[in-house]
Amino acid sequence: MTSSTTPMTEGIPAIGSPEFAADPQGHYAWLREHAPIAQTKIDYGPVSQPIWVLARYEDCRAMLTDPRLPRSPGGGSALAAGLPEHVRMVSEESLIMKDGTQHKRLRALVAKPFTPKVIERLGERVRALATHRLDALAGQDVLDLRQEYALPIPFTVIADMVGVGEADRARFQLGVTAMLSNFEGTRQDWDAKIRDLTELVRELVARKRAEPADDILTGLIQAEEDGDRLSEDELVAMVFTLIVAGYETTFNLITNAVVTLLDHPDDLARLREAPEDTALWRSAVDEVVRFAGPVGGTKPATSVEDITWYGQTVPAGATVIPLLGSANRDPAAFDEPDRFDITRTPNHHLGFGHGPHFCLGSNLARMEARVAVQVLLARHPAISLAVPRDELAFEPMPLWTRYRQLPVRLG
Ligand code: HEM
Repeated sequence: MTSSTTPMTEGIPAIGSPEFAADPQGHYAWLREHAPIAQTKIDYGPVSQPIWVLARYEDCRAMLTDPRLPRSPGGGSALAAGLPEHVRMVSEESLIMKDGTQHKRLRALVAKPFTPKVIERLGERVRALATHRLDALAGQDVLDLRQEYALPIPFTVIADMVGVGEADRARFQLGVTAMLSNFEGTRQDWDAKIRDLTELVRELVARKRAEPADDILTGLIQAEEDGDRLSEDELVAMVFTLIVAGYETTFNLITNAVVTLLDHPDDLARLREAPEDTALWRSAVDEVVRFAGPVGGTKPATSVEDITWYGQTVPAGATVIPLLGSANRDPAAFDEPDRFDITRTPNHHLGFGHGPHFCLGSNLARMEARVAVQVLLARHPAISLAVPRDELAFEPMPLWTRYRQLPVRLG
């Protein structure tokens, strides 16, 4: 039996459907209890495909190091099949879709420029940027914090990392926005914008080769391991990976952190009083990643043989995803998983993944979120929601927790 002919597990809406997005944690709890391995569908833009999902912590963690579940045996990812050629190319060349020695090679080269010194320097940049954004917003009482604050911070960090100069920022922004647009507008329009982003990245690579600069893209071009370097396609794929992995995730982490803290005013007050850079801030950010992490699942794996979980056989060739957002609320893995506890240590959540593909930017992301929230609370200690809490809604996106808007009153 192939995965496409296997019946869907009853009681679970398609991942990415509005029904799922309306109550992800409710569906996760149901899955953990009734269907820890389930078949459903992922619906997103041009992609619609049956998938198997794992909901319990131990199973999710184990599958992320299971050699029977590689990312792309034979090269292609089934989920990428509905995407245009130029996007599929970058998706398939990315380290996130590679396995074994191919993955090790890319990861070693790509990790080189992410040094603690570079992260520290970006930290200063984030603080200045956050302060500058708040200066620009001075006088506005009510605003969409997602759009006006959470989004520009990681956008500028990524643009800096890739060394996009002022002249190219608007063009870069058009492409990046299209990439993360939830497929709004026409397919043709979307394709054209992504194609232009690919061209811009190729131009940037050529420019940095000719004139090396002090940025991560130059670091990636120059990175060398045993005489080996990244090819042009790998460099382009890496820049796309940085955009997808480091932009959407981080702006949602900032937004989710603010919403979660506004939901827990005692914790918010405690953090506001705590001196900057304490262990409390660090554990608080990790608790947001566990409790309201922006990423609900990893890139899909493909089973290379039949695998049986709980008496249910997943056939070879099936697409399998661990539901990280569910694993992180599993009562078998966390005490009182539905309690937001900013002192939770250790916090062995899977919000940054696990195993060989563990998030390369986790420290950068933690720093960006911590600094963005610190600067915001220091400037606007009385910040509050500007709409009733139940009007805040998630976008119907598979495996991402992204609020449509975050209207706040800065106070
Ligand atoms: C991988 C989460 C921010 C770069 C991952 C994975 C997760 C994750 C779950 C594993 C994906 C998988 O196994 O398929 C997050 C979250 C972030 C964040 C929650 C912010 C809140 C960043 C940032 C960067 C980054 C800021 C870099 C600028 C990467 C890269 C990978 C990755 C390159 C692929 C690593 C590999 O395949 O070896 N991230 N990420 N991430 N992340 Fe992040």
